[in-house]
Amino acid sequence: MRLWRQILGFYRADWLRVGAALGLLLLTTAAAIFKPWPLAWIVDRLSAADGSAIADRGPAILGWAVLLAVVHSIHALLGSAQQALVIHTGLRGLARVRRAVFGWLLRISLRRLQGAQAGDLIYRATWDTHAFQTLFQQGLFTFIGATLTLVAMTTVMWRFNRPLTLVALATVPILLLIMRFFGPLMSQRAGKAQAADSSVASLVQQAVANLPLIQGFVRERHEAGRFEASADAALSARWRQHRAEVVYLASVAVVFALGTAAIVALGAREVAAGNLTVGRLLVFLAYLAQLYEPLNQLSHVGSTVSNARAGAERVLELLAEEKAQAANRQAGKTELPSAAELSFDRVNFAYTTGQPVLHEVSLTVKPGESVALIGPSGAGKTTLLQLIPRFLDPDSGSVNLGGTDLREFSRERLRERVALVLQESLLLPTSVAENIGYGRAGATREDIESAARAANAHDFIRRLPQGYDTVVGDGAARLSVGEKQRLNLARAFLKDAPILLLDEPTSALDTESEALVLASLRRLMQGRTTVMVAHRLATLREVDRIVVLNAGHVTEVGTAAELLAKGGYFSRVTAA
Ligand SMILES: Nc1ncnc2c1ncn2[C@@H]1O[C@H](COP(=O)(O)OP(=O)(O)O)[C@@H](O)[C@H]1O
Ligand SMILES: [Mg+2]
Repeated sequence: MRLWRQILGFYRADWLRVGAALGLLLLTTAAAIFKPWPLAWIVDRLSAADGSAIADRGPAILGWAVLLAVVHSIHALLGSAQQALVIHTGLRGLARVRRAVFGWLLRISLRRLQGAQAGDLIYRATWDTHAFQTLFQQGLFTFIGATLTLVAMTTVMWRFNRPLTLVALATVPILLLIMRFFGPLMSQRAGKAQAADSSVASLVQQAVANLPLIQGFVRERHEAGRFEASADAALSARWRQHRAEVVYLASVAVVFALGTAAIVALGAREVAAGNLTVGRLLVFLAYLAQLYEPLNQLSHVGSTVSNARAGAERVLELLAEEKAQAANRQAGKTELPSAAELSFDRVNFAYTTGQPVLHEVSLTVKPGESVALIGPSGAGKTTLLQLIPRFLDPDSGSVNLGGTDLREFSRERLRERVALVLQESLLLPTSVAENIGYGRAGATREDIESAARAANAHDFIRRLPQGYDTVVGDGAARLSVGEKQRLNLARAFLKDAPILLLDEPTSALDTESEALVLASLRRLMQGRTTVMVAHRLATLREVDRIVVLNAGHVTEVGTAAELLAKGGYFSRVTAA
């Protein structure tokens, strides 16, 4: 019930279409009740009359035949219109679910993303979402249609011949028992099969992402083995699911066969005893076939619905997380101050409780000041940086802008004030111009080119095969690390945000590229509050102050000269 309420929630906006489809369904059922009657009338006239009377009734029979054609056509037209409407509405719901899941994905916290398998998320967003359409179309509408037909036909049959109707209905409880037994079994097995398929997808995704590593260390055989194990597990999970389905459908078919045989035998006796006319027996048999059809559909729906439910549950699981997140998020309304001091006040942070990464970190960066964070790998530098755009929030203590806790601002407003340049330069698989333009919506070509000039990127971009229209990123024209980094800087220039965060922007560069990047970095830091994780001495010369972070503690703060005089970590690494 809870599941259905959530599924129908996605179709609420289409209530008019859903209502129209239900109306068409009622009309189709009514037409189905009339369908066998013209034939029955013809047959009864024939069996009541002798040969000469039949010849007299030629035109009347032609009339019945025309009526038969009309009734059958109307039934078919109504049925098709109803189906088309249900399919289209089902697809609209599917699109709505996908939008919701993708929206969730875009807002997901970095912390949650790190705990997730990309393949699994992709599988849920693209494949599992189909379950909503299936449930709406085959679950809901087939169920309502079958129930309507069942009730209507049974009522009419009951008026003709009660013993026959009772025999027909005797199969229903047996079918329900079979459905009750197999339904949960199939649903559970379908869930396991989907989980197994999604791990296969994850393995493929991981292999694609780590191909250089796999090939470089000649681990192809190992990976192939891992994949085989996972593919085998998926195979046996799917096979178990389908085995249950096959046994289920076979049991249903046997019950149908026994029921039909019993009714044919009994119906012939009733006609012989004069309790039924031949025409009415024909109507009865036609109804019987139409009655078995919805029962058969219901039994299929049972297995389809069980499968789809597992998928829908997996999607709703994600969306439920979103609700929990949104409740935590409480959009801040406080106005962001323009030029303001950035301060850390006794910040503690841990990814896993009991394993603190930052201890009582206190630090102040004045407006326009630039600070470099240094320290051994794993000291928590990246973590500290990620607290500023609120990719992460402190466990205790606070990060403040102009004395106000960041949590009081809206995340989006805050992030508009921050430009990020990360160690691994992030490029989208589109043109150079679009990659730079990503920094500011609606940037013109002139804006983009001047940002590229400021980032010392214009010259190399012009030498690319299609200049600014060259496609970069995945598999396209290869850029050097230094070139990629300058595109990232150009993007940050374009964004023109007052706070600049850089995570080891120069550590992967050779000396020549470093000089180019540094020249542009110097321009970019002008008048911006900058926090930069860096190691290279040349880079450290560019900043006002240096902060040493060691195992999550701030151990030294000062200018390069002051720290050298003190003779701590900084003097040790620079001496080396
Ligand atoms: N997503 C994460 N989940 C759990 N632990 C993490 C995560 N990211 C980093 N860590 C751990 O936090 C510590 C600090 O990491 P990080 O801030 O990346 O260090 P740095 O940038 O100084 O090298 C390390 O011990 C690292 O293993
Ligand atoms: Mg780091």
